[in-house]
Amino acid sequence: MNKKIVILPGDGIGKEVTTEGKRVLDKIAELYGHHFEYEYATIGHDAIEAIGDPLPEESLNKMKNSDAVLFGAVGHPKYDNDPTLKVRPEQGLLKMRKELGLYANLRPIKLFDELLEASSIKPEILKGSDILFFRELTGDVYFGEKGRKDDRNTAYDLMIYQRYEIERIAHKAFQAARTRRKKVTSVDKANVLESSRLWREVVQEIGKQYPDVQLEHQFVDAAAMNLIKSPRSFDVVLTGNLFGDILTDEASQIAGSMGMLASASVGDKVGLYEPIHGSAHDITGKGIANPLASILSAALLLDISFGMKQESAAVIKAVEAVLKAGYRTADIADASTSKDKILNTQQMGTQVVNQLAKV
Ligand code: IPM
Ligand code: MG
Repeated sequence: MNKKIVILPGDGIGKEVTTEGKRVLDKIAELYGHHFEYEYATIGHDAIEAIGDPLPEESLNKMKNSDAVLFGAVGHPKYDNDPTLKVRPEQGLLKMRKELGLYANLRPIKLFDELLEASSIKPEILKGSDILFFRELTGDVYFGEKGRKDDRNTAYDLMIYQRYEIERIAHKAFQAARTRRKKVTSVDKANVLESSRLWREVVQEIGKQYPDVQLEHQFVDAAAMNLIKSPRSFDVVLTGNLFGDILTDEASQIAGSMGMLASASVGDKVGLYEPIHGSAHDITGKGIANPLASILSAALLLDISFGMKQESAAVIKAVEAVLKAGYRTADIADASTSKDKILNTQQMGTQVVNQLAKV
């Protein structure tokens, strides 16, 4: 197959990890006779420094004309420490999600058995956890009206959802549940929020079209607790933008480390694939970032955007084998054992590439 992929490294460790994700895509193309053509685009802090725009028009056009995007991360401590700055890297990310119509963010939380010990949660609670989050990505407080009033001493962000926004992501979640353990947990705060009451009403309606799928509702505070208490009780989790943002960071601990989690953002047209971790400036340039989330994002890209099931499975299998052989980046190393072989970012990429050649 011939495919056009945009590589969007972004800021911080985004560059280091997407380099490894791309190497894995290259290897897949070589092994399976595909032709992947790449274009690079800028976003975030780097784009602000270069042209004053966190999402240059040129980058957006490249993405619109591609078959898929492999993205790194955006962010820079300079902005985190100065809330008064008007132009911010994250604006590029949010605009990109909106402009590309990426309304469904899929975040699979699957624990590799080898990493049971890397989590701060007890292995017996974790073992066998396999959750798929559907986080709505283009609505909610992220995109509602926001502003200041009363001499800038009052601030607001409107939490707003429209029926069609809930319907389309609910369908995706129920459809996915059909291919899994047939359970959807919808997470909201319907005991307090009107937007959550609409969310629940619409999800209940859509649920009736999927009688073979069990639907349950949880309030977000209870869901936050249950994720840690009994992660195995979840199959598909369907939730809004803000709750999904928070719960998926929490759920990353079920997978051992943030450095392991990939995500897919899909919707109208082109799909975008990225680690759920951020730009991590504290470790940028040290070459120690875990590239597995980017590599697993590449696996999601192959599967979801290109329908290359076999190729995608090969990448996941290669990652499993590398972990099984004891290779770890620092974030997933088990301090209590000397058996782990600690690798840097590039070495980990090399292990996965070499392993791919064997399967
Ligand atoms: C994420 C990130 C972003 C979000 C930030 C960087 C704006 O945390 O993708 O989860 O809040 O959506
Ligand atoms: Mg987040």
